[in-house]
Amino acid sequence: MKKTIIKARDLCKEYRTGDTRQTVLNNVTIDIYEGDFTVIMGRSGSGKSTLLYCLSYMDQITSGVIALDGKEYIGSPKSLSELCSKQISFVFQSGNLLPDLTAFENVAYPGYLADSKKAVNARTEELLKKLSLDHIADHHPNEMSGGEMQRVAIARALLKNPKVLFADEPTGALNSVYGKQALDLFTQINKEGQTIVMVTHDLKASLRANRILYLSDGKIEAELELGEYEDDDLEKREQKVYAFLQQQQW
Ligand SMILES: Nc1ncnc2c1ncn2[C@@H]1O[C@H](COP(=O)(O)OP(=O)(O)OP(=O)(O)O)[C@@H](O)[C@H]1O
Ligand SMILES: [Mg+2]
Repeated sequence: MKKTIIKARDLCKEYRTGDTRQTVLNNVTIDIYEGDFTVIMGRSGSGKSTLLYCLSYMDQITSGVIALDGKEYIGSPKSLSELCSKQISFVFQSGNLLPDLTAFENVAYPGYLADSKKAVNARTEELLKKLSLDHIADHHPNEMSGGEMQRVAIARALLKNPKVLFADEPTGALNSVYGKQALDLFTQINKEGQTIVMVTHDLKASLRANRILYLSDGKIEAELELGEYEDDDLEKREQKVYAFLQQQQW
């Protein structure tokens, strides 16, 4: 039986602009399971990014309850900052690396706030090696390919061993070759046990998931369970996901 790592109940999110209110998340109730690679899909404006920001505590919900590993963090800035610095990580569409730092420094620097330099450097070295990035450890972002930059951003997100890794369109700014490199890395770390929640528009990227949630007008409309990602059943998997998305009029 799978363990729930994020338990979200009746999430509502409203945006107010002047006198108008827009309900962007409408009573979303979901469990995210430990070790899963969950993908969230849906049309533009359906609330995917908003849901991801709310689940990762980067944005505040209007009402509802979210618990991470059995603990609620609402209301206390101290526990929220502990949560963000130690337990969850985010990868954005463009990796947002600092241009003046090398790959090694981009990965390691945020870690120095939380841990000793020696421990962080050792973990950075280990991560870069594991993710086959050690040969570009001394490169600055302008000396990396788009795929390498995104993989360094993923390495940075993994430095703190997050309970959950969130990603919003992490391959959206990459061409298909670099996108595949980043996705291969997500698959690799997920197979090693990393829980991932990813938003994507891309059918190919969605195939990496073992579970796809479909969001429509701020509600989870449908859900598809897939087995573990295997290179050899790709065609069948793609047909299955495509049929699911067609049913939702994606
Ligand atoms: N800060 C904000 N203030 C007001 N409205 C917002 C804000 N952020 C998002 N919205 C609105 O909320 C709705 C959902 O936005 P969201 O970014 O979650 O959609 P999305 O599904 O991620 O879309 P896309 O696929 O285009 O990235 C949209 O109508 C958007 O205009
Ligand atoms: Mg979005």
